[in-house]
Amino acid sequence: MRLKQCHNFKDFRKLAQRRLPGPIFNYIDGAADDEVTYRNNTTSFEECDLIPSVLRGVESVDMSTTVMGQKLDLPVYCSPTALQRLFHHRGERAVAAAASKYGTMFGVSSLGTVSMEELRKTYSTPQVFQFYFHKDRGLNRAMLERAKEAGVEVLMLTVDSITGGNRERDLRTGFSIPFKLTLAGMLQFAIKPMWGINYVTHESFKLPQLDSHVDMSGGALSIGRYFTEMLDPSMNWDDVAEMAEFWDGQFCLKGIMSGDDAKRAADVGCTGVILSNHGGRQLDGSSTAFHQLTEVVDAAGDRLDVMMDGGVQRGTHVLKALSLGAKAVGLGRYYLFPLAAAGQPGVERALGQMRAEIERAMKLMGCTSLDQLTRGNLRFR
Ligand code: LAC
Repeated sequence: MRLKQCHNFKDFRKLAQRRLPGPIFNYIDGAADDEVTYRNNTTSFEECDLIPSVLRGVESVDMSTTVMGQKLDLPVYCSPTALQRLFHHRGERAVAAAASKYGTMFGVSSLGTVSMEELRKTYSTPQVFQFYFHKDRGLNRAMLERAKEAGVEVLMLTVDSITGGNRERDLRTGFSIPFKLTLAGMLQFAIKPMWGINYVTHESFKLPQLDSHVDMSGGALSIGRYFTEMLDPSMNWDDVAEMAEFWDGQFCLKGIMSGDDAKRAADVGCTGVILSNHGGRQLDGSSTAFHQLTEVVDAAGDRLDVMMDGGVQRGTHVLKALSLGAKAVGLGRYYLFPLAAAGQPGVERALGQMRAEIERAMKLMGCTSLDQLTRGNLRFR
């Protein structure tokens, strides 16, 4: 199977599975507990249907949107995700380059493997910094200052990860950071030689957002333990108010699921919220972003930009979310599997397919701009 044969999410996932050592593939592909929420994320889009309007003259379609003060050519963006250079040696560089090409925003994680400064200097498309609130207040302040100094446009505070989700696939494989070649890992290395050669012949693994404060040489840490041991479970609305004030710019919370929390986010100075269950990786049994979208959009009114992520695999999923009032939709595994499968050309191919799907679906819906997508276009069964 080759890149040219990848026509959708499932194809990219399959190709990524062939290229990646098992523990790494399962880290991306896996979720919490029984992975029920992970599966529901995608199937929730299937609970409603699109109602097209015809004969409207749809030669040209404008897919641009403005979200968090950023003008994007597409209503989808690459959500911040951790450890990208583990998936492909170019990691964040490949994703940022592909996002730039498609005129959209990309995220850099606190657990990113390329520095936010390098990315901000190299690419001009809007950049998000995903922030984890650590117990170490000095680290928090230093990261916020760095992001500000670098000129990062949007700060995204993740609020659904104050303790580690139960990721049983990682427990089974022993997946940890920094990635260590255990005996089982060595075996994986042997059966996935291309991944191994790339990994050892490129710049060594680093976490440049954290390196100056966190000593990763002390031994491997699972992602669950990182959340539980390093992040501050006492984080509350007062902390958010303080961060928003310090940031003094576009500031959104990722992991909001209720209308009441959205209202509170607006009250403490946030400019946006992202409905998200972290790709089903944290609280299994949690509702899906799509299910909660109407409640949050109604609560937010015009005080917040509402975004969502989770389970988006098709242009029609994006159209459904926008019809319920989301301003933009985040992609995670959707671009990570292509990254792992083929680096930048993989991510570009996936974003190109997403753009084509959104454009085609807009035409078939009889819409020439995103603001024509309304609740009237949907029917829940
Ligand atoms: C994860 C974190 C690191 O879901 O975002 O693995």
